[in-house]
Amino acid sequence: MKIHKTGVWAAAIVLGMGLASCSQGGTSGGGAASPADSAAAAACALATAEDPGNAPAPTNVPTADNAPALEQKDTYNVAFSQNASNNPWRLAETASMQETADSLGYQMTVTDANNDQAKQIQDVRSLIAQNPDMLFIAPMTEQMAPVVVEAAEADIPVVLLDRQVDESVAIPGTHFVTVISSDFVQEGKRAAVQMARATGGNAKIIELEGTTGSSPANDRKKGFDEMIAECDGMEIVASQDADFTRNKGQQVTETLLQAHPDVNAIYAHNDEMALGAIAAIKAAGKVPGEDIFVVSVDGSKEAVQAIIDGDLYASVQCNPEFGPAAFDVMQRYAAGEAIPTAIINEDIVYTADNAEAELANAF
Ligand code: AHR
Repeated sequence: MKIHKTGVWAAAIVLGMGLASCSQGGTSGGGAASPADSAAAAACALATAEDPGNAPAPTNVPTADNAPALEQKDTYNVAFSQNASNNPWRLAETASMQETADSLGYQMTVTDANNDQAKQIQDVRSLIAQNPDMLFIAPMTEQMAPVVVEAAEADIPVVLLDRQVDESVAIPGTHFVTVISSDFVQEGKRAAVQMARATGGNAKIIELEGTTGSSPANDRKKGFDEMIAECDGMEIVASQDADFTRNKGQQVTETLLQAHPDVNAIYAHNDEMALGAIAAIKAAGKVPGEDIFVVSVDGSKEAVQAIIDGDLYASVQCNPEFGPAAFDVMQRYAAGEAIPTAIINEDIVYTADNAEAELANAF
């Protein structure tokens, strides 16, 4: 990728760049910059950039004025369609929803699609047939939009959790009330900054993508690509779907490390794939955090521990605890409040600087 000087300076301004100190990896640890560090910084502003943080809250978001209404009642029967229960993130999300429903005294029916989109479509249809007061859906991919429309046509209000659907098919504020999620593009950008810091801006990268067609896979890739485009020395040499799972993360990494023995960086769209990648790096006789730097997204307890152990460089948090926000929105919607059609969570980044302190808070 070519350096566009103006682009580099624009990135520096957007990132609020200071000469941030780095506690590990290819950049200096806070003392005087070495000639190598200075060269890397000159080549790539990201290598010394600070974490860009959460994106500014979106303004002028339309409100949900045309979605099915929700009556105000003392208690509710709600339903939650979960797309999988194959990783700690999904389990934490379901637990958060169940705990909040229980604390409010609401009945909640939960379905688990087992990471199978055809099953999730059937799950949602069977939940629609049960006519819940409110339907929460964590859609597997953006292609779940038509069944969201079916729920609206059955006059059931829907709130989407953690992933988007195709909004040209399911119209925000009409076919669903709102989508509550992290900003996945920003997560990709934050991961790119961590990767630049780890490698000093010189990285041959394997990218482990999440489930094809899911909004976090699309947008984490987009944000990361946009950011590393500012760095001449950062290049994705292979990018492959590993379905957000540890097993596939390990298998795909094993294969790609053989094809690309010179890689020094792995960007995984979630911690499970990163933990699989770390196992593959070790099996290949290499040292994670020395030979190959790994950066991921989620902030699971096991991933934060891997940061403490030096195996994982950083993980951008994607908080799975949706229960309080989901039921708060539901109650405010029932009370007639104008609900924005997109609600964005705020997240932190786990690095060697805060991993010990944050371990207990991770899911
Ligand atoms: O939609 C959020 C993503 O889905 C999480 O990063 C991942 O772990 C989960 O499966």
